[in-house]
Amino acid sequence: MSSIIVGTGIAIPDNVVSNHDLSRIMDTTDEWITTRTGVKERRFVDPGTGSSDLAAEAVLAALEDAGLEAGEVDALITATMTPDYVAPGISGLVQAKTGMRHIAAYDIRQQCSGFLYGLDLADALLSSGRAKTAVVVGAEVHGGFLPWSAASWNRVLGGSEDISEEDFARNTEHRAWSVLFGDGAGAMVLTAGGAEGEGLLGSSLHTDGEEFELIWVPGVGFKDRPYVTAAGVEADVHLPQMDGGGLFRKAVRLMPEAAQTVLASTGLELNDIDVVVAHQANDRILEGVRRQFGVGSEKVPSNIGSYGNTTAGTLPILYHELRQAGRVTGGTLVCFAAFGAGAHYGAAIYREPAAAE
Ligand code: UT7
Repeated sequence: MSSIIVGTGIAIPDNVVSNHDLSRIMDTTDEWITTRTGVKERRFVDPGTGSSDLAAEAVLAALEDAGLEAGEVDALITATMTPDYVAPGISGLVQAKTGMRHIAAYDIRQQCSGFLYGLDLADALLSSGRAKTAVVVGAEVHGGFLPWSAASWNRVLGGSEDISEEDFARNTEHRAWSVLFGDGAGAMVLTAGGAEGEGLLGSSLHTDGEEFELIWVPGVGFKDRPYVTAAGVEADVHLPQMDGGGLFRKAVRLMPEAAQTVLASTGLELNDIDVVVAHQANDRILEGVRRQFGVGSEKVPSNIGSYGNTTAGTLPILYHELRQAGRVTGGTLVCFAAFGAGAHYGAAIYREPAAAE
């Protein structure tokens, strides 16, 4: 028996920030962001809302979709790079907020590949019989790591008061990465009920630790004593550093490569794939993936225009939307693919059960 997805749910915050809104707080334009990234708008939670809150909302929606109660879940896997606290991770918070029993709850990192790694772990638990019902959730609240002052946040969310020249210059200094991200969460409920040839057919996960500086947060880590200092924060060590071009080139090459590896291991071919649910970091990366595969946007769809990069949230949010739109139905062969900080990347192949529709 294979692992099958029996329910999906998402949590999307209400605060919408368009590219035009961003141009009020930094030197950028809708034209630049749209043509370079495909992002048109992104969502942000209110301050005080954590990734555990978004995760819990997505999990409850996925459980409702599956027709299951929280008490029936026996493994929870949460993926986020923006936890509520430095420690512990959010899995315990999500377990408590959703009313699950005292089950095994895992926190995994893996950033943009976090959901994919979570899916693989869920499959391992289900196929070994250690769990009957597993929930995987990817959730992010990126607002907290954006370098914007309270005045900038107020302005970007529609306030009429102008920001200082200093704030404008600082926001512009960090514009290359700050325009990419948004908040959101997506969850899946999985059970071990798939028939032969259905469900999760294989996965191929990889890590190239030599590339961990492609995108990373250099400070607020425990090799420093103390791990956080005013001087460090003053020097912005808590903000992400990103080699955009390097990430771009690796993502375009390694997502298709991982997809080919897992296809070969499952005896399937590229032509068999109906839809590639790929990590949403940049529409031009997806364009590159389409070119490598020789397919169009119907096979490698994008929703980055609406949400930006929601890191661990992108795969389950896009999958949920495709399912809702009837683009993933019984028999559909899906390839999940992701690449991100670590550098962790990989792909998985999933056949939607015939009975799902
Ligand atoms: O999942 C992991 C997360 N991150 C990624 O996957 C990122 C992958 N990489 C990318 O998406 C792209 O590399 C970026 C969107 C980050 C950058 O696009 P690019 O086409 O590689 O632009 P660039 O960095 O080469 O910058 C071109 C110009 C520069 O100006 P000059 O030096 O040519 O005068 C930048 O300063 O665009 C400028 N620029 C901007 N201009 C307006 C950078 N960011 C912005 C901005 N608005 N937001």
